[in-house]
Amino acid sequence: IPIPADTYPTIDDLAQHCCICQRCELGKTRTHAVVGRGNLQATIMIIGEAPGQQEDEIGLPFVGKSGQLLDKILASVELNPDNDVYICNIVKCRPPENRVPTPDEMAACKPYLLEQIRLVNPKIILLTGATAVKAVTGDKRPITKIRGQWLEWSGRLCMPIFHPSYLLRNPAKEKGKPKWLMWQDIQAVRAKFD
Ligand code: URA
Repeated sequence: IPIPADTYPTIDDLAQHCCICQRCELGKTRTHAVVGRGNLQATIMIIGEAPGQQEDEIGLPFVGKSGQLLDKILASVELNPDNDVYICNIVKCRPPENRVPTPDEMAACKPYLLEQIRLVNPKIILLTGATAVKAVTGDKRPITKIRGQWLEWSGRLCMPIFHPSYLLRNPAKEKGKPKWLMWQDIQAVRAKFD
């Protein structure tokens, strides 16, 4: 059953629906539906892939190791995770063993994401990792090719960036390496934010 646009008056209404959602199989195995954290009126929205184990247990996105690194990256350019950003995911429920969500699961959950974007109305959207980029914009290029580029999507400025979990696996900071590139990207975001 499709969820039309303009279904939810507030994020709270949307969250209540997510908590009882059985639009895909992930609804059977989740502990908590993970909707979002941060400022509901933020200028920047950050979209990840899916909740992991800690997110599923606590019910908030990006609260594990990846999330701690994400908060550090934001703080490095004086962006406050509680005030300046709203953080959410493509799918609201944890895939078993943290596998990549299937196209059907992402499609089932997308109406919630589109409603979040409408309600929060961010000027800037950051898409972390290739899965988030593909799910939102349809762009299938590898993240190494498109990270740091501003794309226009749905009248908003969107930038694909590395997923923090990729940076945890690739911690090199030298010029041209993943963490250095992330530093370039987050500074470019900061410049548009002001
Ligand atoms: N990785 C994600 O993509 N999202 C989370 O919420 C946590 C880890």
